[in-house]
Amino acid sequence: MNIQIRYFTKSRKGNTKKIADTLSSNLKIESHSINSNLKEEVDILFLLNAMYANNIDKKVANFISTNKDKIKLLVNICTSCSGRSTYSRIKKCAIENKVNIATEDKVIIGQWLFFNKNRPNEKDLSLAVNFAKEIINKYSK
Ligand SMILES: Cc1cc2nc3c(=O)[nH]c(=O)nc-3n(C[C@H](O)[C@H](O)[C@H](O)COP(=O)(O)O)c2cc1C
Repeated sequence: MNIQIRYFTKSRKGNTKKIADTLSSNLKIESHSINSNLKEEVDILFLLNAMYANNIDKKVANFISTNKDKIKLLVNICTSCSGRSTYSRIKKCAIENKVNIATEDKVIIGQWLFFNKNRPNEKDLSLAVNFAKEIINKYSK
């Protein structure tokens, strides 16, 4: 089973990268930024992204469209300071590109300016790891 992690991070805190690195070390899967396109077909792609101005960054949407033929299942893991998910934005993009997206998604609280200081914390990060493990367990059967 080919499982990969891609992330896009923008704020100086690098919250999305922090989550991606934690997943990478716990799941023993390499993690790369979305600058790195998929080289082969991927069974499960964890796409880690964040909410900016109530939307996803265009680069995340471009990544989905560029790599659409290689993604068998897209799983959204995102971070925001409000706790709102980017799922609807990612799903819209997945549908437009005929990419299969899991119904499950995970939002991890992230620090922004003076909101949510020091988050994601250890507890937040372990929520992301548990979510990813559940997904792998479910979809690798
Ligand atoms: C320019 C900018 C705009 C943001 N807009 C929102 C927003 O509309 N809603 C929200 O919940 N969080 C918003 N945030 C907070 C980010 O989603 C949050 O800090 C996230 O963890 C950032 O991830 P990153 O460090 O990987 O870029 C914004 C952050 C930045 C930098």
